[in-house]
Amino acid sequence: MVRHFTKIRDVTREEAWRLLDRARWMKDTHHTGTLLAGKILVLIFEKASTRTRLSFEVGIRQLGGQTIFMTPAESQLGRSEPLRDTARIISRYNDGMVVRTYGQATLDQLIAYGSIPVINALTDEGHPCQVMSDLLTIHERTPDFSSLRVAWVGDGNNMANSWIEAAVYFPFRLTLACPEGYDPSLELLEDAGKAGARVRLTRDPEEALAGAHYINTDVWASMGQEEERTARQAAFAGWTIDAAMLRLAAPGARFMHCLPAHRGEEVSEEVFEGPASIVFDQAENRLHMQKAILERVFSPA
Ligand code: CP
Ligand code: NVA
Repeated sequence: MVRHFTKIRDVTREEAWRLLDRARWMKDTHHTGTLLAGKILVLIFEKASTRTRLSFEVGIRQLGGQTIFMTPAESQLGRSEPLRDTARIISRYNDGMVVRTYGQATLDQLIAYGSIPVINALTDEGHPCQVMSDLLTIHERTPDFSSLRVAWVGDGNNMANSWIEAAVYFPFRLTLACPEGYDPSLELLEDAGKAGARVRLTRDPEEALAGAHYINTDVWASMGQEEERTARQAAFAGWTIDAAMLRLAAPGARFMHCLPAHRGEEVSEEVFEGPASIVFDQAENRLHMQKAILERVFSPA
């Protein structure tokens, strides 16, 4: 059976918890191994990346595998060779695909036409590897999620969607504050509510921040939305997480951001560089979580 990881729902609740345990163990033991020995994974990145690319390349090598990095600029993808053809070619040479792209449907197409595992390295709809590693960063500090409040303040983007998915499996309370017109997936929100997740959407950042233990935000214009940047800066005016905003949260609250950050937009320099910020621990944990995800995808069934 070919396993994929294109969204958090691709694993069960138990497996999601196990990913946290395994990633933590891998971090503690500086794990390296041979699971991927003899395997070559292709990283197809249609958008820029620093952390995701590096943590996958390093993680795959630490598990004994090799990587090939591919972008549209230097492959036939950029000259309109259909993805369904590319998927079949890659499946004949390689053992897995780690893909950063626009629509989630692209991943479905790669799965439909390919015959090897596909891992989501970010789409417009979700960033599951990032949110799983952010959960690891929280779990290291607060192992009991049951009385935990997580805030999402800003754009209802790919990250926000994956946080909603996470709230179905992990028992924290998630409050998202997004300006009108910048909502996350309402379908995901509805599904999460039906599944018993403690998740809520508000228009008021102060409401999301009140009593929050972990405060998340992200850029106002994601990759692919560069042309909307000015309009978005206007729509998000007043939504910067600054010291005054942070004071609304629970004492000792932590600031989180998947990075890259735009200081002076979604977060002030003071908060980003201040003692509440755990953004570089988040970035480090990408490596440990990637390895746990790779183990889940490539271990024999
Ligand atoms: N957080 C994250 O995915 O960063 P990169 O875009 O650098 O991969
Ligand atoms: N929401 C951001 C995340 C970058 C890691 C984007 O999609 O550009």
